[in-house]
Amino acid sequence: MKPVVLAGGSGSRLWPKSRAALPKQFLSLTSDSSMLQNTITRLPNAETSNPIVICNDAHRFIVAEQLRQKEIDHGGILLEPVGRNTAPAIALAALHATMSGEDPILLVLAADHLIKDDTAFHNAIEKAQTLAEQGKLVTFGIVPDSPHTGYGYIKSGDELGPGFVVSEFVEKPGLETAQQYVSSGKYFWNSGMFMFKASRYLEELKKHHPEMLDVCKRAIDTETPDLDFIRVDHDIFATCPDDSIDYAVMEKTDSAAMVTLDAGWSDVGSWSSLWENSEKDKQGNATVGDVLLENVSNSYVNAEERLVSVIGLDDVVVVETKDAVMVANRKDDQHIKTVVNKLKAEK
Ligand code: GDD
Ligand code: MG
Repeated sequence: MKPVVLAGGSGSRLWPKSRAALPKQFLSLTSDSSMLQNTITRLPNAETSNPIVICNDAHRFIVAEQLRQKEIDHGGILLEPVGRNTAPAIALAALHATMSGEDPILLVLAADHLIKDDTAFHNAIEKAQTLAEQGKLVTFGIVPDSPHTGYGYIKSGDELGPGFVVSEFVEKPGLETAQQYVSSGKYFWNSGMFMFKASRYLEELKKHHPEMLDVCKRAIDTETPDLDFIRVDHDIFATCPDDSIDYAVMEKTDSAAMVTLDAGWSDVGSWSSLWENSEKDKQGNATVGDVLLENVSNSYVNAEERLVSVIGLDDVVVVETKDAVMVANRKDDQHIKTVVNKLKAEK
């Protein structure tokens, strides 16, 4: 089995820590190690060594250095000259993995997720492998606890070995639909991790998005190894359609299967979810760095450079960095994306 680690996202909901130059997956948010490092070191050993990491060209040295720090032998760092979302990124990895005539099972992982129970995760990987060997495109389903609209939803059908047939996959539904799904009890969240034979992904992509596969094939045909790095042709890849695996393949394929995952998974998609997943004091506060609180509850305060003091507030997020300070209502922090977009527009 070959892990493929997707490390090309922008993680803008964790601004001001997560920046274009250092997005979320490279930050140490939940431990001393970065999200990327934890993604690889939590894998079961022998079975899943030599991951392929795929990231933006701009982050190549960060990735190489973070792998070196943990003495991780990788199976190549694939560099995208421009981001075209996860469907082409996985296609490049699958093409790279099959280049020497092999057809490994790929375990596709997001580089920016938190998993608390490694043993439960390893068990789910083992179950998924049985189904991937049968040609299925396997998802890892999480029992939902809210109608989150930032996730894909999977309806489980008939039992299939250690998992289920996927009878419906809906990427990021509207709130009303998500509410119906959650109250029906029949839907799971898509964790954003996948397992399939490389050839099966490429076949499904050919069926549902042939032009994307064609561009990826042409872009990687000119693959030029450069020490650790595998480059992809800029001009060709720039013409690639932008789409995620969820829309491009998972919503369309008839071969999807699901295993359930109950391993304390979180995609740490916001400061509030980081607060939920952090150790808290008796008042429900989670703090990082030099922080002084007085009469504060259920808050997340992260101080990077200076002493941060908060007095008489509840349910807030305060994140201080060298050049920006963000103060938000903890229950409202999804609007950070709007602020980030405004900042981008001003540049
Ligand atoms: N290499 C590469 N290139 N990686 C990418 C790119 C890209 O262009 N775009 C995103 N990624 C990486 C991100 O760094 C992340 O690790 C992973 O791919 C998923 O991308 P996100 O952008 O975070 O996706 P999402 O969170 O909106 O949705 C996905 O994850 C949800 C669970 O967290 C979907 O799979 C949903 O269905 C799922 O519920
Ligand atoms: Mg995500």
